Amino acid sequence: MKKIAGKHILIGISGSIAAYKVPEIIRKLKKKGAIIRVVMTHSAYSFITPLTAEVISGHPIEKNNFISGSNININHIKLGKWADLILIIPATANLIARLSIGMANDLLTEICLVSKSRIAVVPAMNKIMYQSKFTQKNIKILKKRNFLIWGPEVGKQICNDFGLGKMLDAKKIIKLIELFFKKKKDMQNISITITAGPTYELLDPMRLITNYSSGKMGFSIAQAASERGAQVTLISGPVYLKTPKNVKRINVINALEMYKKVHQIIQKQNIFIGCAAVADYRPTKFSKQKIKTNNKIVHLKLIKNPDIIASVGKLNKNRPYVVGFSAETHNLIQCSHEKRIKKKLDLICANRITLSKDKSNIKNNSLNLLWKNKKIYLPFNNKLKLSHQLLDEIIQDYEKKYKCKNSR
Ligand code: PMT
Repeated sequence: MKKIAGKHILIGISGSIAAYKVPEIIRKLKKKGAIIRVVMTHSAYSFITPLTAEVISGHPIEKNNFISGSNININHIKLGKWADLILIIPATANLIARLSIGMANDLLTEICLVSKSRIAVVPAMNKIMYQSKFTQKNIKILKKRNFLIWGPEVGKQICNDFGLGKMLDAKKIIKLIELFFKKKKDMQNISITITAGPTYELLDPMRLITNYSSGKMGFSIAQAASERGAQVTLISGPVYLKTPKNVKRINVINALEMYKKVHQIIQKQNIFIGCAAVADYRPTKFSKQKIKTNNKIVHLKLIKNPDIIASVGKLNKNRPYVVGFSAETHNLIQCSHEKRIKKKLDLICANRITLSKDKSNIKNNSLNLLWKNKKIYLPFNNKLKLSHQLLDEIIQDYEKKYKCKNSR
């Protein structure tokens, strides 16, 4: 089917008796047009021959190849970048434990550590192993790190036990893969406003107070929301970026204008995301004439700008689901929690500011998502992919909390 066709799926097989089901799953995925590569853990070799996986996938089993010589091909990096999805099937308690602590002691765990692609873990083990508090804790850690956990289900086990630990059957796994690749249109009835970029607080016609925001993060969220069918309004400070398709863009210069534009529409919105780096202060007065440079020291008088997101968070009527961003150099998590509480936000996305000259910070980011009772880390990724992951989380929580209340 089209959803899977052409997708790069890296299959990691670990040592469980359920491994015998994997060749059939590979065959079905190939029939749907997926391109498959296979990596096996050492113990997987006891359950399935590499030749079977090679013949069915149409490619040799991937191996680490740190071979001295000129043409070094570092497989864990190459494969980590190649995969659109990493599917670990079956996933044993041992492999889940290794992944949960970030081990990199074989090719499969190395790939998982370097790859920015989603990793779906399909557990298969005895019910006692699955329910042990160690395995449960490890699975919880993986979920927090944004791994997908597919199954297990209740059933008769190979050891004659009956309970939770049986691997999902091929049909269910393929359905989950199809859902994963399906272009989501899950925001069709949602109005969302996003602020982006910096604000310019003018001192005179030439000079201004601003910051380094490129606008890329906010524009990427707007693009992702629009791809998912939302009605998107993007209120942007001065940036050099193209407006994403089907997005209504409102340009502003300073924080006061941004505040005004936000409040003109906010009570009709379902979700508000404040991604703009709004200047906290503005000069008390604007000089129409360029300020002369005769003095050795000048004193600037600044006044606090209104806090746009806090004013939305504190709305009593028609309040949308409110998501803030938090940029800090130190004590990121603590400061961000405090901002979430003070500004009355549903969620705050904490990102660290570095003074690195690395331009990749414009294209990529990582986020700590902090709710009142939940925390998820979205690892370093390009901002569009990261925005989709962020929207996955927002939609889930928004639907739980707000859908019944907001019938706008
Ligand atoms: O634009 P990029 O180059 O892609 O970079 C993205 C980013 C780093 C700018 C973005 O990810 C980010 O962190 N944006 C928020 C930066 C910021 O102003 O953080 P803050 O901790 O100072 O503010 C916290 C929240 O209050 C933010 O949601 C901000 O929009 C909001 N705020 C702040 C001041 C103010 N007067 N009004 C506000 O609404």
